[in-house]
Amino acid sequence: MSAGPVRSRRTIAVIGATGMVGSRVIDEAAARGHRVLALSRRAASADRADLDVTPVAVDARDPQAVREALTGAASTGAADAVVLALRTVPVDEEFLVGATRTVLDVAAELGIRVLVVGGAGALRSPGDRDLLVAHNPAYVPVEVRSVAAAGIAQLRTCRAHAHDDWSYLSPPALLQPGERTGRYRRGTDTLLTTADGGSWISAEDLAVAVLDDLETPGREHHITVAHHDESAQA
Ligand SMILES: NC(=O)c1ccc[n+]([C@@H]2O[C@H](COP(=O)([O-])OP(=O)(O)OC[C@H]3O[C@@H](n4cnc5c(N)ncnc54)[C@H](OP(=O)(O)O)[C@@H]3O)[C@@H](O)[C@H]2O)c1
Repeated sequence: MSAGPVRSRRTIAVIGATGMVGSRVIDEAAARGHRVLALSRRAASADRADLDVTPVAVDARDPQAVREALTGAASTGAADAVVLALRTVPVDEEFLVGATRTVLDVAAELGIRVLVVGGAGALRSPGDRDLLVAHNPAYVPVEVRSVAAAGIAQLRTCRAHAHDDWSYLSPPALLQPGERTGRYRRGTDTLLTTADGGSWISAEDLAVAVLDDLETPGREHHITVAHHDESAQA
């Protein structure tokens, strides 16, 4: 899978624009010719001025501000799709759930797709479908269980919402900046691993998967991706 010619030019809002994931989603979206609304508290950097990227300073704790940004009240034009890539340190489950609900509410009004970049913890463990990764010490040490739990709560929020046009993308166990190969493996609700048990993807290739899902939505709500590896197993 790779960035082909853009099928139709859209306005894609990215919430968490300055983050590891959000910034790469913006690069991928702009490279494919989409317009981007780059939402975060700190406005995304001005060096994106050559691309069709509009930084919008928004605090996702403010539902009205999120609503105005997505509906184009600031004369940016309404979003055609929204990517939610929020993270706080320390984790704040209530904030994450509230922001997710707000985005789904506005998306329902606008009739647009939402893609949530969530956590690996919401996936099932390879080899044990009844054990969530969040509860599997092989992947999630006790110290970060609250982060994994917040991701699960975010997925639950999506499932409970009346708006049906969403996907929740769980990264593999390891997600970090790296190379854009344009290739990846795609799965649904189970962590993808390689033969040696590795589970990773670059943030650049995750961004490719985000844009592919927005341009050509699949049927599954909960999806995951991992580095493309010939020796891979599910
Ligand atoms: N293996 C895994 O499961 C894995 C690994 C890494 C990341 N992730 C997930 O990927 C997603 C994105 O993570 P990341 O690593 O890209 O996070 P990050 O680099 O820490 O970026 C977080 C983004 O959220 C924004 N943000 C935080 N509070 C905000 C607020 N109140 N209003 C508006 N924007 C706010 C930040 O911008 P400002 O501070 O400028 O507002 C920043 O753009 C998260 O869901 C994270 O859990 C999963």
